[in-house]
Amino acid sequence: MANHSHENGNRKESQIAVVMVPLPAQGHLNQLLHLSRLVSAASIPVHYVGYATHIRQAKLRVHGWNPSAIANFHFQEFPPTPFHNPPPDPNQSSKFPSQLLPSLSATLHLRDPVYKFVAQLSSNFRRVVVIYDSLMSYVVQDIASLQNAESYCFRCIPAFTLYSFRWEAAGRPDDASAEAAAFLKEIPGLDGCFSPEFDDFARLQSGSRNISSGDIYNSSRAIEGFFLDLMSERKITGTEKLWAVGPFNPVVFPEKKGSRSRHECLDWLDRQSPDSVIFVSFGTTSSLCNEQVEKLALGLERSQQKFVWVLRDADKGDIFTGEVRKSELPEGWEKRVKERGIIVRDWAPQLEILGHPSTGGFMSHCGWNSCIESISMGVPMATWPMHSDQPINAVFVTKVLRTGVEVKEWARRDEVVPSSTVENGVRRLMGSEEGDEMRKRAQELGARVRSCVLEGGSSSKEMDAFITHIIR
Ligand SMILES: *[C@@H]1O[C@H](CO)[C@@H](O)[C@H](O)[C@H]1NC(C)=O
Ligand SMILES: *[C@@H]1O[C@H](CO)[C@@H](O)[C@H](O)[C@H]1NC(C)=O
Ligand SMILES: *[C@@H]1O[C@H](CO)[C@@H](O)[C@H](O)[C@H]1NC(C)=O
Repeated sequence: MANHSHENGNRKESQIAVVMVPLPAQGHLNQLLHLSRLVSAASIPVHYVGYATHIRQAKLRVHGWNPSAIANFHFQEFPPTPFHNPPPDPNQSSKFPSQLLPSLSATLHLRDPVYKFVAQLSSNFRRVVVIYDSLMSYVVQDIASLQNAESYCFRCIPAFTLYSFRWEAAGRPDDASAEAAAFLKEIPGLDGCFSPEFDDFARLQSGSRNISSGDIYNSSRAIEGFFLDLMSERKITGTEKLWAVGPFNPVVFPEKKGSRSRHECLDWLDRQSPDSVIFVSFGTTSSLCNEQVEKLALGLERSQQKFVWVLRDADKGDIFTGEVRKSELPEGWEKRVKERGIIVRDWAPQLEILGHPSTGGFMSHCGWNSCIESISMGVPMATWPMHSDQPINAVFVTKVLRTGVEVKEWARRDEVVPSSTVENGVRRLMGSEEGDEMRKRAQELGARVRSCVLEGGSSSKEMDAFITHIIR
């Protein structure tokens, strides 16, 4: 190959532009925003695109750095497409976030503006690299027609879960790998994971499946090297090129004790003993009905364990308009548990809570963001999957990694979890020998994962390899 960098005085990096196309749901916005930070740190200009409300949401909730202060990082807002913005329905039996569907569907209108934007960049740069969420495949499908543009798919779920989805879609064939087969046996079917409207949306995306020149995973070899290799060897997504660059959580936190911007729950955690607190949070896409809130409250109380509980309703498609419901807690309950637990109703600094030495367990819906944060902070989980990839992620945590106990059984997903199940699950994780063993395994795994992202670790090397590949 000719040595391009010497041919013209420009540095190779500045001849490339990267365009990030996120799906506008919190866990997805967040991951591509962090990837943007990493790419822009390699001196490559990055454009993060979307509707104004979702860009505002991503900026508001970013933690630990300020995207607007980075010179080669740009937000590109497209003219809004109005969408229906219903509140989440806590009483709906399926926990799939149907309220977000109108905002997801509105992204289909980005196909033309994104294409035009990339086309325009492509005349000013040697190459334009588009990194898109797999659920934005429809939007970026025309990019392939531009000679000097290429697209890479960002995977917001683990290789294990994606492998399981594809295996299901193929009708559960016999798996050639005995090791894979042993785990696949454990996964539940897809019933109840998605809504029919979402299935239509997903079908549109998979119609444009083969447009990726390679896959980027927010996962690491230390977490699932085996399944990452299978994805590549068998070209499960149509490409053998993949980079596992995750998790890239900040490992040290800037906010010190006594800082005014520090969340008060962290001050409370400072006063507890190591590994004594369970963190309870179910992410941004699901809401609990009143009856479930009550059972959960009583279960936590009876477990006699300490807790930090984030009790918020799910996000709407546009988080900046309309009312948010405030769940009621049982009469007198807050007073009874005030020595042992605290309730957070606003946006909680989840990563810092998980990284706090007093936190020893995490009751979670098992979204991949939450799993990977828990894994990298070395915290074992009590699993309570709600929808989508979560039931399979929960199997990954409890059966593959063996760093978690099951609380909500997926087979009984339409039932309210009784307080005795909550109580037993919390006790098993926080107050038993079995729980201590899981904590030990989780801590060891956490240490290995954190070393992956340090210089010379596998994720850090794969990130460098990806950058070298796109500026080639
Ligand atoms: C991967 O996910 C974690 C957990 O949410 C996030 O903090 C990190 O920034 C993500 N990394 C990338 C490269 O997207
Ligand atoms: C959900 O059900 C409760 C009664 O269990 C009712 O008070 C509430 O209004 C319902 N909420 C919605 C959004 O329908
Ligand atoms: C993607 O490519 C594979 C082979 O590489 C082919 O079997 C499949 O039909 C293609 N899918 C689409 C949606 O084009």
